[in-house]
Amino acid sequence: MLKVEEQQPVAFSAALLEKCAEIVSRYPEGKHKSALLPILHEVQAELGWLSANAMDKVAEYLNIQPIEVYEVASFYTMYFLKPQGKYMLEICRTGPCCLVGAEKLMDHLEQTLGVKEGEVTPDGLFSWRGVECLAACGYGPVLQIGPEYTFYENLDKQKLDDLIQDLRKK
Ligand code: FES
Repeated sequence: MLKVEEQQPVAFSAALLEKCAEIVSRYPEGKHKSALLPILHEVQAELGWLSANAMDKVAEYLNIQPIEVYEVASFYTMYFLKPQGKYMLEICRTGPCCLVGAEKLMDHLEQTLGVKEGEVTPDGLFSWRGVECLAACGYGPVLQIGPEYTFYENLDKQKLDDLIQDLRKK
């Protein structure tokens, strides 16, 4: 059974619909399905995550089956299928970053934010998770922060605390 937030009706703003139309116009006639990934990014940017209703609306907009949207959205980790904090902190948990302290930083993040991986802080500001290699293996530990996907290298506890403080002040 769907949770309450997954049953919320979804309305796309005029700006979002305009953006979607512009994205569809990039593709040849009859190939509008190719617009699915960028449209999902835009929908997520506006709504914060992709609920079942949001994905159904995308399917309706592109005139494709809902399952085609679910398959894509559930495959790529950059799409969120449940509510996230305003800022998503993603720490690389692959071998080279773990050798220089990524796991300790994830423990520190859990203690500092007071939520486990994948959860949202009570103020709605933060979520965090470990992710696979962020392609800066010589500069670990590495962190990226969504929604802008800002990149931070050579991280330590103090830098992480400073970053969180800066985000709280925004
Ligand atoms: S192992 Fe962390 S960026 Fe590649």
